[in-house]
Amino acid sequence: LALSGAAQAKDLFKKSEVEAALTAAYDNYKGLQEGKNADYIPALAKVDPKVFGIVLVTADGKVYTKGDVTTEVSIQSISKVFTMAKVIDESGTDAILNNQGVDATGQAFNSIVAIEQNRGAEMNAMVNPGAIAATSMVKGANYDEIWSKILGYYNDFAGRHLTVLDEVYQSEAASNQRNQAIGRLMYAYGKIKADPDRATDIYTRQCSVGVNAKDLAMMAATLANGGKNPVTGKQALKTENVPEVLAVMATAGLYDDSGKWLYKTGLPAKSGVGGGIIAVSPGKFGIAVISPPLDGAGNSVRAQKAIADISNALGGNPL
Ligand code: DON
Repeated sequence: LALSGAAQAKDLFKKSEVEAALTAAYDNYKGLQEGKNADYIPALAKVDPKVFGIVLVTADGKVYTKGDVTTEVSIQSISKVFTMAKVIDESGTDAILNNQGVDATGQAFNSIVAIEQNRGAEMNAMVNPGAIAATSMVKGANYDEIWSKILGYYNDFAGRHLTVLDEVYQSEAASNQRNQAIGRLMYAYGKIKADPDRATDIYTRQCSVGVNAKDLAMMAATLANGGKNPVTGKQALKTENVPEVLAVMATAGLYDDSGKWLYKTGLPAKSGVGGGIIAVSPGKFGIAVISPPLDGAGNSVRAQKAIADISNALGGNPL
């Protein structure tokens, strides 16, 4: 993924083309009424469904924005990408492969049946059981040490200090009995080695981290740039591990609709029930859209449409 000196010397994209693609998508989908905010976490139902922000950051660090790029929503499942990356970084490629696996489940993101079908194996770190297990695999002596490591890692990707949206954390912590059950079931199958309730609580906290569209785009652009934040220059993830992270995103980043998404765009991507989606065009750009109303699979309606249009207009499909 390393860019040659020649490629770095000249811009990857023409400014006017990127701006036109963002504006077209924004104008096309601004008025779209489809979808509904997630409400199984009560705080998410209260977020303004009209929030709509698009940011594209090129692998050479140019930032393009359209719409609302300051409102923070909770990162939710998009966090799963970066916690999994941390585990791969700390414990090597095989840790995730051998523990929760990297295959699609064909089930909803919070499915308990999926755990039962394979006794906690053969799933992936983008669905809740594999993600809570990934959180449990981050090394640290105690809760605070593990948590500050996870947040610090997200900060490296975003290029700024992120904070938890406490109202979202409290709301989900009070209503996440299903995830508590998932954590305990993964413990029963030996996929979480210690204290499943702690793992579920840290997972809930990581899902409540506040991000705006620019933060998410910067996180995606870091993956597009071989693991190096294109603006701060910080190597967040080893370049050799980036393809593994992108592979799991491609397989399961949009849950049950991952195949359809890949068919249309070719882009590894990840959605969150807060309304964000990130997508990565390796060596070219990272893009993020925030728009809270979701479709039946739990993916933002406007974000899917806007990212697909923009990427296809810019030749982002790597396949
Ligand atoms: O565990 C949950 O249910 C949420 N914290 C995250 C789920 C999520 O974002 C699924 N995404 N589309």
